[in-house]
Amino acid sequence: MDLGNIKITIRPNGSAKVECAKAEIVMPDGSVVTKEGAFSLCRCGHSKNKPFCDGAHKECGFVG
Ligand code: FES
Repeated sequence: MDLGNIKITIRPNGSAKVECAKAEIVMPDGSVVTKEGAFSLCRCGHSKNKPFCDGAHKECGFVG
């Protein structure tokens, strides 16, 4: 497993932005989603596309 460099930025009242060359996200059912470059993970719990952010934090008033 190549862990490489990764940058995670916690956005105020929003998502966690992940920047890396390549990421493999293992989903609860065992399937793997591959992302390259930048993507955002949900922190508010309201995304309809978990674990990824879909912008729902803006409507739900997430603070954190
Ligand atoms: S942080 Fe963006 S939808 Fe949850």
